Amino acid sequence: MSSDAGSFDDLLHEDRRFPPPAEFVAQAAVDAEDLHRRASEDREAYWASWAEELDWFEPWETVLEWDPPFAQWFVGGKLNVAHNCLDRHLRGSRRDKTAILWEGEPGDTRSFTYSELHKEVSAFANALRGLGVGKGDRVTIYLPMIPEAAVAMLACARIGAIHSVVFGGFSPESLADRNNDAEAKVLITADGGWRRGKVVPLKANADKAMERSPTVESVVVVRRGGELSQQVDARMKSGRDLWYHHLVEEARPECPAEVMDAEDILYILYTSGTTGKPKGVVHTTGGYLTQAYATTRAVFDLQEDDVYWCTADVGWVTGHSYIVYGPLANGATVLMYEGAPDHPDRGRFWELCQNYGVSIFYTAPTAIRAFMRWGDQWPERYDLSSLRLLGTVGEPINPEAWMWYREVVGGERCPIVDTWWQTETGAMMITPLPGHTETKPGSATRPFPGIDATILDEDGDETSSGYLAVTSPWPSMLRTVWGDEERFRATYWSKWDDVYFPGDGAKRDEDDYLWILGRVDDVLNVAGHRIGTMEVESALVEHPATAEAAVVGKKHDIKGEAIAAFVTLKEGRQGTDDLMQELRDFVGSKIGSIAKPEMVVFTADLPKTRSGKIMRRLLKDIAEGRTVGDTTTLADPAVVQRLQAQHEEKG
Ligand code: WTA
Repeated sequence: MSSDAGSFDDLLHEDRRFPPPAEFVAQAAVDAEDLHRRASEDREAYWASWAEELDWFEPWETVLEWDPPFAQWFVGGKLNVAHNCLDRHLRGSRRDKTAILWEGEPGDTRSFTYSELHKEVSAFANALRGLGVGKGDRVTIYLPMIPEAAVAMLACARIGAIHSVVFGGFSPESLADRNNDAEAKVLITADGGWRRGKVVPLKANADKAMERSPTVESVVVVRRGGELSQQVDARMKSGRDLWYHHLVEEARPECPAEVMDAEDILYILYTSGTTGKPKGVVHTTGGYLTQAYATTRAVFDLQEDDVYWCTADVGWVTGHSYIVYGPLANGATVLMYEGAPDHPDRGRFWELCQNYGVSIFYTAPTAIRAFMRWGDQWPERYDLSSLRLLGTVGEPINPEAWMWYREVVGGERCPIVDTWWQTETGAMMITPLPGHTETKPGSATRPFPGIDATILDEDGDETSSGYLAVTSPWPSMLRTVWGDEERFRATYWSKWDDVYFPGDGAKRDEDDYLWILGRVDDVLNVAGHRIGTMEVESALVEHPATAEAAVVGKKHDIKGEAIAAFVTLKEGRQGTDDLMQELRDFVGSKIGSIAKPEMVVFTADLPKTRSGKIMRRLLKDIAEGRTVGDTTTLADPAVVQRLQAQHEEKG
């Protein structure tokens, strides 16, 4: 956080203000003042009123039972998430409304109405049941961005199976770790997917992962179709592997939705923390859906004829809450795109916005910074007049990128919602409401109605600059870490009494606006992806040449942060450029390409305190080319001088 504090002074001088446009105020999907008033009068009744907009098989008895750190929402209530995302819309005109518009990277297209999606999900749900998957069983989903990803998630939800979606960019090893931690019974994958004109070999990765995934009994393989499936000859292992399209063809298209308790688990999603092992964040049914539903409607000002596009991958929480569950629970039309933003050229996203008439566009600051770098000519080449609202998520957005987004993409007419939240929070927590909140470039503004977020110091006292904190339970909060209650308590609930610690630093300005400064723990945010420094370190030390490794985040113009690794080698090993490349690839093969260090520095020693703790702060200073501060607590201050000299030499 120390390195961010400087730039915050600039933010404090940010005096641009953008009041909500008049049309938004006049036609807002929600009455923000009413929400705020009701939330402050009776928070539980307020959340219950959102929950009442969903279909419940049986009503709840109690809105909230809070036995810190364990919350239960809508206790005793029964519902099904897939029923709420599909069946509920079949009664009226939404039946034939488009639910999913999809475009593959090569330009192939598909679409599903709500009734078609309902049929596909029901058939696949029956197929899963046929494979012996029942309520509470875990299913891993390792798919590209194709409609079947949403179908698979909803099919699990329909039968009460717990899904664990693993981002397609993760390595076989990461996939196997997640299969094993969750003790998954079935793995759903595809022959491959397209990314920047290349095939992502998902089935081949899955096969490798299966070599050490003893709990997985069946592998369901989706045929991506088109040229890809002609190129990739997926080797199907008999008795284990099954084609998705065969299963769906043979399955009955009616499948009654399982009656789920509000607190039954909907999904596990693995995310990086401060140890080498990712944690399985657990989300349940009623509270999660309520908050995903409410925030989608209110923050995106969702109207019936909107075409909504969130550019995230379903492998991340944003894809869960804001491609699948939130939008479909609202009966929205969702655009899904398979591939990269610069394929075949840098105008692809804008071409998609134009061709599909996208009205709500939600992406990450890292993408916005890349677009900015690529130049105004790309968005300017397309008709973006259908856009009416822009959103960002995943990391702090710098005011310059925010302004560019507003002016060049949004034509100065679209409000921007900068939404702060996390895998753990399940849904948006701090965000503007577009028909209500005056925005400031770079600030996520204020908590969503019904969310109690503030800034505390180490002792738990209110301050204007310190740690972000959530002081009351919220419906979509994580319930635990899968199989590790102790880690759940220790990570999120041990800093203060009964207050949630998200791990972010924040400041409050004179208007009570919150400015999120980024992580204060050993979690990096690389191009909006969460990666633990310890995960990368554990991968590095598995390499036979490595003696010790320390990993830090280094400021990066586009990715926000890039990974810098400091490595000491075993006796007799030389720090060559080849070894550098080998180490980068090694990390890629262990975790996934997103975790490859951008910079590897070989060093004879790492700076350590006298008690042996690696001083990452100093390494960060070195990686970012800053003068190193206080080194008095170092065991051997000369280490830093050597490293710095070495780094300067390399330029
Ligand atoms: C960061 C993504 C500033 C933050 C939904 C958080 C943000 C982490 C914002 C969670 C934002 C997310 N402004 N920082 N609007 N949104 N972050 O779990 O550090 O992948 O803790 O969830 O991203 O990342 P995660």
